[in-house]
This record gives sequence, structure tokens and C-alpha cells, in this order.
Amino acid sequence: MDGNGRWANERGLPRIEGHRRGAEAVKRTLKAVQDNGVKIITLYAFSVENWNRPKKEVDALMKLLERFLADQLPVLIKRKIRLRVIGRYQELPERVQDRLRKAEAATKDFTTHTLALALNYGARTEVVDAVKAIAKAAQAGDIDLNALDYDGFRPYLYTSDLPDPDLVIRTSGESRLSNFLLLQAAYAELYITPVLWPDFDETHFKAALADYASRERRYGKTAEQLQAT
Ligand code: IPE
Ligand code: MG
Repeated sequence: MDGNGRWANERGLPRIEGHRRGAEAVKRTLKAVQDNGVKIITLYAFSVENWNRPKKEVDALMKLLERFLADQLPVLIKRKIRLRVIGRYQELPERVQDRLRKAEAATKDFTTHTLALALNYGARTEVVDAVKAIAKAAQAGDIDLNALDYDGFRPYLYTSDLPDPDLVIRTSGESRLSNFLLLQAAYAELYITPVLWPDFDETHFKAALADYASRERRYGKTAEQLQAT
């Protein structure tokens, strides 16, 4: 979800106003996701690198997140959406953790729709955390390193219970992944739109889905092989 700052700058508003409008776009998008039959969405809300922003902006983002979780929990429950957090949870402010735990607990039994929030998330951090856990398990004799393959590695990622993304949408025209789900998105279709995140709405979401539907996913095979199946 990129472009909040630019959206605000273009209007001579403080950056946080862009983030506030970004939160509104999140609400719209959640509805669009459900209305268009998409079951799982992961929102990259705060990266491990975002701590390097001015303290004032980080504090405001955390406040906004806290408020968002408080007023969206009834909506998640009403729409039967499970909340999942991926990222280093324990390093988030206590009050945010508290809200997250409450929301996760209250929605844990919903099985059809999932909202995953990437918070204090970084793909490199995730891989390092996974490698550490694997090393521990190997030391304890719980896994056989010689037999380890990607299927054995997967459960150590933050996303152990989530499928890989089919489509990654990046707003504000930037053509990069910025440390987002690097392993899981290995075969994801990328969709880049110039739309700034606060302006993103169902029309843009539908355009992304239509574009996705036109892609041929070959997973290393040839087009001829796919036609034969
Ligand atoms: C929002 O957009 C993403 C967050 C980290 C919350 P930005 O704040 O990165 O917006 P730009 O890139 O300055 O436009
Ligand atoms: Mg940005």
C-alpha cells in the first residue's frame, strides 16, 4: 500500500493525513475483496524498514493502527473475516499487540476469509527467523537437514498456514517488491498501478483482477505443455 505520503504532498497536507485516507482505502478494499470472491488478502502495512521514518510519523501510524483495529473488529466479526498477523509481533507497541491479540482471538474460527496484516514485516527478517528455528530443531534432532527441502522449510515461515499469493498489487507506480513476501511471491503475478493508495477503490481492484485473469501461469513449463493438459 504505497503512495500515502505523495497523496498528502500533492494536496499540501501532512503525511499522516495521507495515512488516514489510506486507512479508508483499506476498509474499501476489504469490502471489494470479499465482494469479488477473493478469500485471502495480505496487506503490507508496516515494514521492518519503516521504523527508520521520523518518530512522529511512526507514532502516528501506530496510533492509527490501534484505532483501526478497535473500530474494525466488529466489522471483521460481522463479515466473518479471520485476522492473521505476519511479522515480528513482539516488537510492536504493547497497546497495538493487545488489540491484535484480541482481534486474532475473536476471529480465529472463521475459515473462509482471511485478512493477513504484515506488520513489522520484512522478508529477509522472516527468512533469518526461519533459519534460526530450523537450526534449533536440527540441533535438537527434530529434523534431518539432509532431507530438508522447500516443503520442509515452508512451515518455518510466518506464513506457514497461508497459501502463496497469486497476485501482488503495488500502488503508486513503484516497480519493486520492497522486501515483501520474497519467497512466497516467487511465482506471483505482479500488478503495478500508478494509483496512489488513498485513491485505490473497487474499480482499481477489479482492473487488477481482470489483468490477472489474462495471465498465463507456466511455472517453468512451456505454453505448449500447458495446452496439452
Ligand atoms: C504508505 O505510503 C505506506 C506506509 C508505510 C504506511 P508511504 O508513506 O510510503 O507513501 P509515499 O511513498 O511517501 O508516497
Ligand atoms: Mg512509500
